[in-house]
Amino acid sequence: MSLTPSVSSSVDLRRIIDPDTYFDNNLPPTNLQWAHDEVARFVKSQAPDQRIVLVTSGGTTVPLENNTVRFVDNFSAGTRGSSSAEQFLALGYAVIFLHREQSLQPFNRHYSHSTQGMLSYLQRATDGSLRIKPEWEDKMGRDLDAYQKYTAQDKLLMVSFTTLSDYLFLLREVSLLVAGLGPQVMFYLAAAVSDFFIPSHSMSEHKIQSAEGDLTLRMNQVPKFLGPLVKNWAPLCFIVSFKLETDPQLLGSKARHALKKYGHQVVIANMLNTRKWQVWLFTREEIEPATIQIDQSDLAAGHDIEQDLVKELARRHQKYIKEAQVSHA
Ligand code: PMT
Repeated sequence: MSLTPSVSSSVDLRRIIDPDTYFDNNLPPTNLQWAHDEVARFVKSQAPDQRIVLVTSGGTTVPLENNTVRFVDNFSAGTRGSSSAEQFLALGYAVIFLHREQSLQPFNRHYSHSTQGMLSYLQRATDGSLRIKPEWEDKMGRDLDAYQKYTAQDKLLMVSFTTLSDYLFLLREVSLLVAGLGPQVMFYLAAAVSDFFIPSHSMSEHKIQSAEGDLTLRMNQVPKFLGPLVKNWAPLCFIVSFKLETDPQLLGSKARHALKKYGHQVVIANMLNTRKWQVWLFTREEIEPATIQIDQSDLAAGHDIEQDLVKELARRHQKYIKEAQVSHA
């Protein structure tokens, strides 16, 4: 069976995947209005000079059927985003955490996806009540306290997506709501976003039948939404994008190319296999990237690379805010 888009010429394809028309041709997520109201409320509840970061995290899916049974997923557990959100909170940021449903979440991440399962942290006490195992009490207590503190202070807002389309609608919505705050807002785009999709009008309506034989997929290219984000949606904000590659020969040139093409502030380049202990920070001003690296033994001891990465980004963001204030004065 062949699932080919119904358009035939490259001109038509370009029109369909244009960022501006994408939103006319695809359905918004059911939580869009809720997200709009919650983000507007969250932003309003912050102090006027509060630094805010939008952290995107986890992978987007692209459905193969409108009534979706099958989909193509993008690799990302959500470690980078959830760990970074914790670091941003510790540095005083208010965090909007736009994440893939069921991916790792700040503080909960240490337990929710454990290979032994949640129950392995619990035991029954002699009086019959359920208790945290003593060896977990300190760490779990610290994570619980931090999570409850930031939630009570209204410093952490969770918004979830599943598909590419959900993500793009929500990204645009949140961007437009926070853009007015200008330089004090950082975008930290760690989500792994699909580069290929099937427009909904070209998708099979119902479950693709295996009785029809082999399946050939033809997918359209997703436009890069960094373009409209940087240029139109949030032009004054501090924007950090990520570049993921598996071929080391491509990484540096692709990161530089992204900076040149979109004109934003920072690209964090990482390789799939070493991303947990080594990243490179590219800017337009610096010829050589800054390397951020930790020992693998530090990682095993619980030191995430995001502690160093987020600290460095927060420092650069502070400088960006100051420069914007000076040029405004
Ligand atoms: O979650 P973990 O398991 O910890 O993994 C973290 C990570 C490896 C996923 C993360 O560090 C990372 O690299 N995220 C970005 C992955 C990605 O989408 O890379 P890319 O090279 O395909 O895209 C580059 C940039 O373009 C991204 O910032 C993305 O937001 C943006 N993009 C991508 C596709 C698209 N259609 N539009 C976009 O704007």
